[in-house]
Amino acid sequence: MGSKIAIVVASLLVSLLPLGCADSGSVGQDPSPMPASLAGLAEAHGRRFGTAVVHDALFDTTQPELARRYTTTLAREFNLLVPESELKMANVWTAESTLDLRKADRIAAWAVAHNVKMRAHSLVWYRSVPPWLVAGYRRGDYSREQVAALVQWYISRVMTHYKASYPGLVVAWDVVNEAIGPNDPTTSDTFGLRPVGTDFQDSGADFWRLTLGDDYVEKAFHWARAADPDAHLFYNDDHAEFPNPKGEAIYTFVTALKAAGTPIDGIGLECHLDVSYLDMSLPGIVFTPEAISATVDRWIRTGLEVQVTEADISMKVGQDDRQAKLYADLLRASLPKAGVTAFTTWGFTDLVSWRAASTPLYFDRDIAPKPAYHALLEALRTWDGK
Ligand code: XIL
Repeated sequence: MGSKIAIVVASLLVSLLPLGCADSGSVGQDPSPMPASLAGLAEAHGRRFGTAVVHDALFDTTQPELARRYTTTLAREFNLLVPESELKMANVWTAESTLDLRKADRIAAWAVAHNVKMRAHSLVWYRSVPPWLVAGYRRGDYSREQVAALVQWYISRVMTHYKASYPGLVVAWDVVNEAIGPNDPTTSDTFGLRPVGTDFQDSGADFWRLTLGDDYVEKAFHWARAADPDAHLFYNDDHAEFPNPKGEAIYTFVTALKAAGTPIDGIGLECHLDVSYLDMSLPGIVFTPEAISATVDRWIRTGLEVQVTEADISMKVGQDDRQAKLYADLLRASLPKAGVTAFTTWGFTDLVSWRAASTPLYFDRDIAPKPAYHALLEALRTWDGK
């Protein structure tokens, strides 16, 4: 049972079907969402409806018809984008003094051209550590102090780049991602900061805690605030959106950070869910729409800006209606509440998903709407703001 709820990691990474010619200009210059789109309805209530986007799907040139559908759906349905991996540190920071922001910048430029805002994900994450930095640290090329200075430099450079080159585009920065472990909230382990280590890829050990210290999360937020005093700085994690032991540990950790004066503005609730959670019956875990709603309320009471950041709901064949209801319940439990500013899903089509095999999104592989899409629209139409 334990493994059922564990966050899915590298083994399920999707192999992207090649997508075709998606010239960013091909959807025209007037991107204003139509009233019956997710973005149009969310925007009418002053909210953002977002999706993760993959550079190689947006700009690849091998399947023009699918790419056209990907791009036009993206432009029509969303007023917020997040590069799915193009802004992760290991993808950007390719050598000590080299940042490769080409892919992230093409997405940023597309967002500007289509009048869409961006979440920036993520600055410091245990699973995205530049290999050259780990190797250098192991060799003794860098002391812990030098690693700290380099990371501060990195945060400052990346944030300053977006502030200067795309002013007003980035509405949220995920400063630290998934600091609390282990991944599976049903284990009997104690939850807390992930253990230190350099074998982070396999074991979940945390290179940042090893090199920057137990207060690395505070440090990262202070560095981010110094880089851009106006940015909305988020802590982002999984399993914090319903009552469970890991969520409780995240709540304790984040509220302590805030109480200590750490410059944190927001909490990102990932919401990688599965239809089977509805049937779960485990001590300490309550997965009902009411429990999700109460958990979101509790986050709102902290005074932090709340966003759903990576929603996707995996399912088995034939569970479309349950998936649709859970999407609508999740949206109703979060976005209409004052203090919740955005609802972002981890992709929108089962064609381009890290969990593609379990069809967790609301457009199918042909980018046709599934029942979940209509359920989300209906939840936005029957908005019950509080
Ligand atoms: C995942 C991407 O979807 C994959 O394509 C990538 O290879 C690994 O990362 N929590 C997060 C996201 O915060 O960054 C992860 O994204 C999914 C889990």
